[in-house]
Amino acid sequence: MTINAPEGTFDMLPDRKLFWETFKETARKVFGRYGYLSIETPVIERTELFVRGIGEATDVVSKEMFTAISGANLEKLLAGEKVPAKSRLSLRPEGTAGVVRAVVQHDLVPQGAPPAKLMYAGQMFRAERPQRDRQREFNQVGIECLGSEDPTIDAEAIVMLMRFFGEVGIPRESMTLLVNSMGCDSCRPAYRDAVRGYMEEHVDELCDTCRARMEMNPLRAFDCKNPQCAEVMDGAPKMVDHLCEDCKDHYANVLALLKLAGLAYTEDPKLVRGLDYYTRTVFEVQVAGSDKAQNAIGGGGRYDKLAEEVGGRPTPGFGFALGFERCANLLEDLGHVFPKASACKIFVASVNDDVRNDAFVLTQILRDAGAQAECDHQGRSLKSQFKLADKLGARAVAILGPDELRDGFVRVRDMSSHEERLVPQNDAAAALMEIAS
Ligand code: HAM
Repeated sequence: MTINAPEGTFDMLPDRKLFWETFKETARKVFGRYGYLSIETPVIERTELFVRGIGEATDVVSKEMFTAISGANLEKLLAGEKVPAKSRLSLRPEGTAGVVRAVVQHDLVPQGAPPAKLMYAGQMFRAERPQRDRQREFNQVGIECLGSEDPTIDAEAIVMLMRFFGEVGIPRESMTLLVNSMGCDSCRPAYRDAVRGYMEEHVDELCDTCRARMEMNPLRAFDCKNPQCAEVMDGAPKMVDHLCEDCKDHYANVLALLKLAGLAYTEDPKLVRGLDYYTRTVFEVQVAGSDKAQNAIGGGGRYDKLAEEVGGRPTPGFGFALGFERCANLLEDLGHVFPKASACKIFVASVNDDVRNDAFVLTQILRDAGAQAECDHQGRSLKSQFKLADKLGARAVAILGPDELRDGFVRVRDMSSHEERLVPQNDAAAALMEIAS
């Protein structure tokens, strides 16, 4: 029986892996211009970090977390004993909570310090029903900026994300930038009550899930995919009409800065995002797709209370994350040509078995000189060595023959011009490397 990768997970094969590496490198380059430095936090964190940080009532925490009970605790659980909630660990469903935890733990934003600008890239895990753009294990690139509530932080991060998308080849016209404000602790509770009141008036038209949401988390109903609920929620009170003066000002400033930066955006009063930590600015970058739920390639927002939620002192924050697989799939659909992973630039072919050891030695010389070189390891004929060199994408081929070697020469071939010439054996490595460069 063959054992395949678990449902919703995937193997990143060399060509895709090459694109992932280039993608991360582009992110480091673009985000680096804005002062972001790389950080790596554990893939596994204490479950309570996500419960407190992301919110117990969110789908991500209540339904989609992979939670692990380690070693001795699992034994205890199987024996019917109680396992303390504190010892539970979960695979991270997103990166923000872990980065904020690290900022608090290592005091990266001491009083009076400039904002900490951090970026990350890596796997996230959500136990969702797998589909093409919805995986159980997927890769995000994200940034978090802690220590400033200034609207310039929100605007520069959004501009930076759009620049990044442009740099990896996603055409501007295929993306829509949606923006909204979620208010703050002083204006959101009253707004939430207003939405709940509105939902109560329309309770007969709502699905069972939205009825349940009404009590705990009425704003989640804006995300419901049921068309009837969507229609009802179109008429619900809008957060922008309930913002306090400070939030109204903040939001107006962010929008003004986006305009100044020449970024076209659409205000979407129904954009609430799926995680509970957001305050004030939220945004999402969507692309046209058949399924409304899966067309966000990135999104984020402000979370001014999250640091306190995980035990730190008040530290405002802003961040976003984007989905690598969704971006790669989109580029594929747009006909983007991805570079192929190549294992060989110079191939050293042997005319017969007598010179195989010479081929082995020349290959080592080339590798020691820094070239990506390969020779035959399967006793192939010269013809099939040429085919292999071509398949591997070699730009130069050395053809080692007993007669030429006896006279101190190696034949070198330029695979693009098909030109061949004899060079002295001592100059062979340099000649091959020049062709391949
Ligand atoms: P998110 O919207 O949950 O936000 O995820 C960000 C991006 O990750 C999405 O726009 C999507 O491209 C990708 N993504 C999410 N779930 C999946 C999945 N199951 N399969 C494939 N791709 C997926 C966050 O995670 C927040 N931490 C963003 C943030 C950072 N907010 C503030 N700071």
